[in-house]
Parts: sequence; C-alpha cells; structure tokens
Amino acid sequence: MDYAPVIEILNEILKHEWTGVAQYSQNSFIHEGPWREVYADKFLGDAKESFKHAQLIGDKIVALGGVPVATRNEIRQSKDLKEVLQYSLEFESKAVEMYTKALELADGDRALVVFLEDILLQEQEGVDEYSKLLRNTDAAQNVGIIEDDSKKKIG
Ligand SMILES: [Fe+2]
Repeated sequence: MDYAPVIEILNEILKHEWTGVAQYSQNSFIHEGPWREVYADKFLGDAKESFKHAQLIGDKIVALGGVPVATRNEIRQSKDLKEVLQYSLEFESKAVEMYTKALELADGDRALVVFLEDILLQEQEGVDEYSKLLRNTDAAQNVGIIEDDSKKKIG
C-alpha cells in the first residue's frame, strides 16, 4: 500500500487540529460576560481535544514514514457567542469531512481505518454538540434581556 496520499491528508488534518488548539484556546481566553462561566471551560476543553488529536495524528504520520507539519491555518475568533458557536460548528464539520476523506484513502489498512474511525466519531460528537448549542443561542440571549429589564425596574 502506498501511504503517500494518506500521509498528505493526515498532514492537512494535523494542520487543522493545530488550528483548533489555537482557535478554541483564543475563544476561551477572550470570552467575557456571564456566559464565560460556562464557555471558557467548554472552549478550553475543545482545545485540549484538538491537541489530543494532533498528538495521535502526528505520531501516526511518523509511524507511516512521514514528517508531521508544525503549522496551522488562520483562526476565527469573536467575542459574540453565537458567532463563536458557528465558527466551532464549521470547524468540527470540516474535521468530519477531512477524516472521512482520510478513511477513503486508508482503505486496505484495517488498523488505520479503525484508528481514524475512532477520531471521526469524536468529531461527529462535536458537530452534534455545537448544532444543539446553536439551537439554544436565542433562548440564552433572551434570558439576558429579561435580567436587564428587571434591573431597570429596581433602579
Ligand atoms: Fe479533532
């Protein structure tokens, strides 16, 4: 089996995972307001998941005889929660797409297929999670509006 095409897509994936480490960390750092209590940890957790995947993919690239990249793509950051959730959903969706493509190229190496499928499942969980969080974004903002109104009445 020729692993060159697999190594190439794994390096694209690695670059994406490094982007995730930086993007999720940055969004964790800059998120302010009451929802920081929830989302700073959530985004940091996702940064750690990206780092875990980067480790797995980097080690696998070397095992297959390749050289891992140490670069990343541009990150997308925002202080607006809904925007960050959208960026996150797009990030996770792209990961699902890339691992699916890698799986097609890994056909013929059963262990590699299982290895990639395991990560693909986690990426899909990310898509499911951010899809659900985005559905609740408007409701979360409404709570903020109600709190502001009550403050006005007291004042
Ligand atoms: Fe990942």
